[in-house]
Amino acid sequence: MSHLLGIETLSTEAIWDYLQLAKSFAAAPPARELAGQRILLLFYEASTRTRASFEVAARRLGAETVFVAAQASSIEKGESLLDTVYTLRALDLRAIVMRHGSSGAPGLVARNVDVPVVNAGDGMHEHPTQALLDGYTILRHRGQIAGLTVAIVGDILHSRVARSNILLLTRLGAKVRLCGPRTLLPPELAAAYGEAVTATHDLEAALEGADVVMVLRIQMERMRDAFFPSETEYVRAFSLTPERLRLAAPQALVMHPGPMIRGVEISAEVADSPQSVIREQVENGVLIRMAVLHRLLAPRAA
Ligand code: CP
Repeated sequence: MSHLLGIETLSTEAIWDYLQLAKSFAAAPPARELAGQRILLLFYEASTRTRASFEVAARRLGAETVFVAAQASSIEKGESLLDTVYTLRALDLRAIVMRHGSSGAPGLVARNVDVPVVNAGDGMHEHPTQALLDGYTILRHRGQIAGLTVAIVGDILHSRVARSNILLLTRLGAKVRLCGPRTLLPPELAAAYGEAVTATHDLEAALEGADVVMVLRIQMERMRDAFFPSETEYVRAFSLTPERLRLAAPQALVMHPGPMIRGVEISAEVADSPQSVIREQVENGVLIRMAVLHRLLAPRAA
């Protein structure tokens, strides 16, 4: 049984395979090869982009989707994760796409079901399809990832997007600079990833000559303590403004996984600038998620 639980457990060949497959789907949309298959979208946390793009991707391949959110389902009455999955499995599901607030929850489900499981974001752990679509977006604009310098700025500590991107980008030969307040970027975090990853608390230093700037939202929902003095202080030190963006390489790409909070981690001017590929990231998410569903399910198609 194949699953997509994280970039960490994906081979470099498999990463390239997903990226190439997404490119081929952009050139020629595939047939409705998953017609008659039913995919569960099980979301214990809020989502706009990931949920909608998995739904579009599944339908473009001919599959039907069943969406279950923690809110307004029997999960609210206390039904356990595995009981929920076993119950829904009885509806002839061929795959489970799931988002959960606990790191490792998709892995737990994968060990207990007989259908492929796709991690659509688990706690502070991984968001593999986000990293794949980000890598695909960079490739479309730069033609390669090896040799690029990517600055990832913001709440690194709580970000599954940062973790998956660090793993994918360094595997494909990029250098990654992490930047954020000390509380959101502990020194040991960068050290865990080896020499290709550096850390700084100085935004200007992080941006200097960077080919790609990836901005992250502050994940207030994962914070129990105050990690910085005030929003005003954060904006003053870490918000990506047009003046700061000029420190990066000419025509550096500006990326954000969303949802973005304009005026906090990124100015509206930068978010809407010609260098911003934020909306294109969303479009590319459909292609990547088609590639993932195709690889996991097409061999089982009728
Ligand atoms: N990037 C991302 O995961 O966005 P959503 O939370 O809207 O799915």
